[in-house]
This record gives sequence, structure tokens and C-alpha cells, in this order.
Amino acid sequence: MNYLVANFKSHKTLAETRHWFDQILTLTYDPQTVEVIACPPAPYLLDCADLLHAASTSLKLGIQDISPFPFGAYTGAISAPMITDWVNYAIVGHSERRRYFGETSDDVLNKVEESLAAGITPIVCVDEPYLEEQLRPLKKSDFTRILVAYEPVSAIGSGNPDTPSHADEIGSRIKHLTDNRTPVLYGGSVNPENIGLFLNQTHINGALVGSASLNPDSFTQLIKVVSQPK
Ligand code: PGA
Repeated sequence: MNYLVANFKSHKTLAETRHWFDQILTLTYDPQTVEVIACPPAPYLLDCADLLHAASTSLKLGIQDISPFPFGAYTGAISAPMITDWVNYAIVGHSERRRYFGETSDDVLNKVEESLAAGITPIVCVDEPYLEEQLRPLKKSDFTRILVAYEPVSAIGSGNPDTPSHADEIGSRIKHLTDNRTPVLYGGSVNPENIGLFLNQTHINGALVGSASLNPDSFTQLIKVVSQPK
């Protein structure tokens, strides 16, 4: 099974988001071959969930971040139980969250635990120099219940992706540090031209895509490449 995740980040109005879904929801793909996950901005998730419901599609929704806390006095935070009816996945520990919002690996652990307790699969983002320290706080029993995304900071939004062979090396290390069954995604300047090279690697099971996911035509191309069996 391959995974393809669209991370809109803080892009798109509600109308633009609806337009994107209208286009993507016309596509068919084999859900046994690929799990496609769209992560629009949180305020649009309920609207998007309605669109998905009406289209009875296998496209899944994810939230781009989640609170490390349960329900309670945490102003502004979206706790996992609030959103579990609408999303299957939550991106946690993205380097932009770590960098601009001061998120620590302990916060990431709490986000992983809150997500799993609410039935949401966390997509844990890590980068090479800190692999061990970013993965160490996680519980061994969680390794078969999460996805890990290797996202080199230098490759994010830069047009300079990692080489597929190096990404594979890191994928192998991540599986060694977690569980051989833990799906490892690569993220960082993935586009329709290079995604096939990453997916051909032994230890890469999918891609987390920012910029190239925003345009529905380019995301359509990505789905087409990823749907081809390995
Ligand atoms: P990018 O972003 O595809 O624009 O490099 C990837 C990410 O930050 O998840």
C-alpha cells in the first residue's frame, strides 16, 4: 500500500478548497493500492467532510496539527476527540510546527497519544539529524499504529528534493528505529516528475506533498503515478 498526503498548509480560501475537492473527487483509484489523504486548513474540514460524504469516495481527510491535550481549558486548541468524526489522520511534528510554534518531541508524543486514543492515525514528521531523538520518546507499541514522514528541512518548499537513494537509506533507518511494518513517507519538493523515483525505493511507502498538492491538476498526476502498483 502506498500513501499520498496533500498538505495545503495555510493556503487556499474555502472556495478554492471546494474547487480542489470537486476536481479530485471525480478521480477513481484503487483504495487497495493507494491511500490518498487530503489535509486542508482545519476550518474547512467539516465542509470537506460533507463533500466526501456526498461523493462516497475513498479519499481520506487529515488535520495538519492537533492539540497535545485532551478536552479542557486550552484556549484555541483543537483536541483529537473534537475532530475524530471527520478525519482519519493528523500530521504531527511538522518541521514548520517545530520551528515556528516551538513544538518539542514531548509535545509530539502527547499529540501521538491523543490522536491514537481518539482513533486518528498520526503522521509523525522527522528529519535526519534528529531521527533518534525525535523517535525515541514514542512508545514501541505505537510503531505499528503510526506513519512516519521523513522530511529534510532543506528540501521543503525549496525545489531541491533529497536523492531517492538517500531517502531510502533514511527510510531503512526509520524502520530499524521503529518497526519494519511502519510505513515511511518521503516529503520535500515532491512533484509528478520525481514521485515515482521515491516510490520505487524499498523503504519508502508514500509521499507527503506540499506545494505540488495545491494545484488539482498536479495532484491528479500524483495520484495517477502513485496508483500504479509497485
Ligand atoms: P513541499 O512541502 O512539497 O512544498 O516541499 C512538503 C511538506 O512540507 O510537507
